[in-house]
Amino acid sequence: MNTSSTHHITTSPSPGDGEFANPRDAGEPYTRTAIVLHWLIGIALLAQLAFGWIVSEIPRHTPARGYYVNLHKSVGITLGVLILLRLAWRLTHRPPAMPSFMQKWQQLAAFATHRLLYVLMVAMPTLGYVASNFSKHGVKFFGHPLSPWGPDLPVVYKLLNGAHIVCAYVLAVVIALHVLAALQHALIKRDGVFSRIWPPRN
Ligand code: HEM
Repeated sequence: MNTSSTHHITTSPSPGDGEFANPRDAGEPYTRTAIVLHWLIGIALLAQLAFGWIVSEIPRHTPARGYYVNLHKSVGITLGVLILLRLAWRLTHRPPAMPSFMQKWQQLAAFATHRLLYVLMVAMPTLGYVASNFSKHGVKFFGHPLSPWGPDLPVVYKLLNGAHIVCAYVLAVVIALHVLAALQHALIKRDGVFSRIWPPRN
């Protein structure tokens, strides 16, 4: 029972309670490019989230704070460029259809989560970058000062940076849901869904 539907969401019968899906029905795996982009950006994103929270703990008005905030900005801009490349690639390549044994609500939940992850991945570096341009500190990109294109407006900076911080918490929650769902497929259901995004063994 395999579907090669061109639609993202499939609607064939799903296994009932107590039934197990056959991993062979999980359908096509993701392509090599999709797998590389997924793990490269996923791991970098988690590291950058953790780094942001570590930086926010460093006492203000110290040289260490300035140094690490700038490193956070530089890495964040680099990651932002990678995220835009990933988004461009995703918009021009259709992912494999979801396995038909997944229930409709599960397919919708996965679809919504994936969309939200893209929105937040783009929002994070954009808000951080735009906020920094309304501050006299601007951005020192790996030591090279980029003069801010906006005026020094602390209220605007605070507002945009506040949105950057709120988005960080929302992103952490959505990533946690995504990881929990992935672990459920990999360890409990063992239905082959996780293997689709895992590097192939051969
Ligand atoms: C995907 C990319 C990014 C992620 C995941 C991220 C994440 C974070 C996190 C978790 C925090 C700490 C929030 C808190 O205080 O609770 C933070 C703070 C901050 N981020 Fe980002 N960030 C990203 C990109 C950027 C970029 C591109 C810039 C600027 C060019 C930037 C500028 C800042 C600034 C100025 C702060 C506040 C630092 C401070 O407390 O002084 N971020 N970020």
